[in-house]
Amino acid sequence: MQKTNVTRIGVLTGGGDCPGLNAVIRAVVKTGIFEYGMEVVGIEDGYLGLIQDRMHALEPQEVSNILTVGGTILGACNKANPAEYAVREAGRWVKRDVTEEVIEHCRGRGLEALIVIGGDGTMAGAHHLIRHGLNIVGVPKTIDNDLPETDVTFGHDTAVATATEALDKVHTTASSHHRVMVVEVMGRYAGWLALRAGVASGADVILIPEIPFRMEAVIDKCLHRSRHGKRFTLIAAGEGAHPVGEEMIVDHVDETSPDPIRLGGVGRYVAEEVEKRCGLESRSIVLGHVQRGGTPTPFDRVLATVLAHHAVELAAAGRFGELVVFKEGKVSSVPIERIAGKIKTVPLDEPLLRAARAVGTSFGDEPV
Ligand code: F6P
Repeated sequence: MQKTNVTRIGVLTGGGDCPGLNAVIRAVVKTGIFEYGMEVVGIEDGYLGLIQDRMHALEPQEVSNILTVGGTILGACNKANPAEYAVREAGRWVKRDVTEEVIEHCRGRGLEALIVIGGDGTMAGAHHLIRHGLNIVGVPKTIDNDLPETDVTFGHDTAVATATEALDKVHTTASSHHRVMVVEVMGRYAGWLALRAGVASGADVILIPEIPFRMEAVIDKCLHRSRHGKRFTLIAAGEGAHPVGEEMIVDHVDETSPDPIRLGGVGRYVAEEVEKRCGLESRSIVLGHVQRGGTPTPFDRVLATVLAHHAVELAAAGRFGELVVFKEGKVSSVPIERIAGKIKTVPLDEPLLRAARAVGTSFGDEPV
């Protein structure tokens, strides 16, 4: 047993869920209890459980057999940032700062440190709580892979695999029916998911938010293929992709969320424009939340486990305010404040963009 002054820690899964969260919870609980003799408390539904004081002790048997299971046994919530918690007052939503309640609940439960698993919104919330005196270690998660300072977040690899499998399936029906098929994938303001799944499935066109597209260039590519005996075109579109000079397409606004914009609709837009402007029969598919579910890949399970283990090591050593990261093949950590409020998009000199262009992929920005 390793020595530590920290005897009780809490763990929560904030923001949207993703494959690998249970693998982190399992490793936090087992490392905390077996290596350090800590008590580990599971906080329910992300920050909502801290706000509403809903939490329970986690024992090793509760985390047995969850390594391979998608979702989170603790529940998740992407609406409950303690600094701006939406409550209904006089028929309308108002944002309240409930930080004091959260601190009180942590004190009341004897939590000396929190392991906070989440993406950019959750880490912004963690940064806020750290400034108010809570001891926090962050673990980065998101299928979008848009957190700075870490080469990859767990959940992303599984989502890429899911999106690739879907694109592969759409590929065969596109080919049979000689259609243009547009598959819209998640990723928010970053194109990592669309780019990697698009390259993995050999998509003919990949549209990402970082490279605004021209419909003429997309159509040009479809027509070029059809003139050269390829009677179908497979398009992978990130939900944040948008035409040059236009805004991203918003599906809806969720005013109860600290991050209210939900993107969606670009796949349909592209398919309709292709059919309208050049007559090629087109269809669109939105993959949606299927990308957030399922069994994590071996890569994500391993990444989740090593990040969780290091997070508990940091908490045990009293090294709070840090985010564990995976950089250049190594697990390390950076101050959470360094990434709070920032996202990592695909840089225009990303080598995968060059490789994709070299094998004939269009990004809808240049003529064929
Ligand atoms: O950040 C993860 C993510 O799945 C994004 O890719 C997507 O835009 C968003 O969350 C969807 O959020 P919600 O689950 O609230 O619909």
